[in-house]
Amino acid sequence: MGRVVNDDTEPASRKDDPYIHGTDPSEQVRLAALNRMTNGPFVRFLDVRPGMRVLEVGSGLGILATAVASAANDVEVVGIERSPMQIAAAVADPRVRYVQGDAHSLDFPDGSFDLVYARYLLEHVADPERVLAEMRRVTRPGGRVAVCENDVTLFRIDPPCPENDLVWSAFARYQAALGGDALIGRRLHRLFRSVGFTAIELSVQPEVHWHGSPGYVAWVHNIIGNLESARNGMRAAGVISEAALNAGVEELERLKTNMSGSAVFVWNRATATR
Ligand SMILES: C[S@@+](CC[C@H](N)C(=O)[O-])C[C@H]1O[C@@H](n2cnc3c(N)ncnc32)[C@H](O)[C@@H]1O
Repeated sequence: MGRVVNDDTEPASRKDDPYIHGTDPSEQVRLAALNRMTNGPFVRFLDVRPGMRVLEVGSGLGILATAVASAANDVEVVGIERSPMQIAAAVADPRVRYVQGDAHSLDFPDGSFDLVYARYLLEHVADPERVLAEMRRVTRPGGRVAVCENDVTLFRIDPPCPENDLVWSAFARYQAALGGDALIGRRLHRLFRSVGFTAIELSVQPEVHWHGSPGYVAWVHNIIGNLESARNGMRAAGVISEAALNAGVEELERLKTNMSGSAVFVWNRATATR
């Protein structure tokens, strides 16, 4: 159980939370599995140094925050997370402190942290520019800001899955209706420039999986889980029919066992010094 040091914000329910994936236990299982697949390369990208004071914005289940705290000696991590359900399910670690709050308004003085990062967050927020400006504000001069985000048009799977492509188009429309952006990965350089960063570095974190490779089934399963987490919302918003959704998911289920199947994706990353 994670420690909540400030719980005076409204409890977020699925109904009033624009977070597209929600916090059902099945979604938390998916997020934990995604962490197992992606944390190693992302922590190396962060280049955590001993003694760093670090902030994760949108810390979810704290699995990444714990990996960051373990990356070097004497590292302290604060995780800001809006959802009390995520904090309640978060990994307990004496080096990680969870604070309930909104990424748009970080309750820390200027220059409080050596490293401030967010992963899979900007795609969900109403005003990513404001979030990034807040992340920059609470970073000390000479400290770093780093993010990793999604652009769902970068999914490539083979053999082609046209029904699945239709579901992802609907997913992106639904996320936009919630105020998010399923394509935000492509905007990272522009966003960083807009909040005043100059020496910005872009990179990608690849996902390359094929039938028989160790991560293939888990990766395709994660793609299905993404869609399932948004199923009820997409249906309620009327962006896709139940039949079309089922057809897309069934295609992916077949891909899992297709001996010729492969799946490629890249996460978009950006980092800059304050
Ligand atoms: C996809 S999860 C990623 C969690 C974690 N960063 C990771 O990489 O595993 C996104 C998290 O951001 C949280 N979130 C969404 N909007 C937020 C906001 N405005 N402020 C703080 N947290 C937010 C969600 O509740 C969710 O736990």
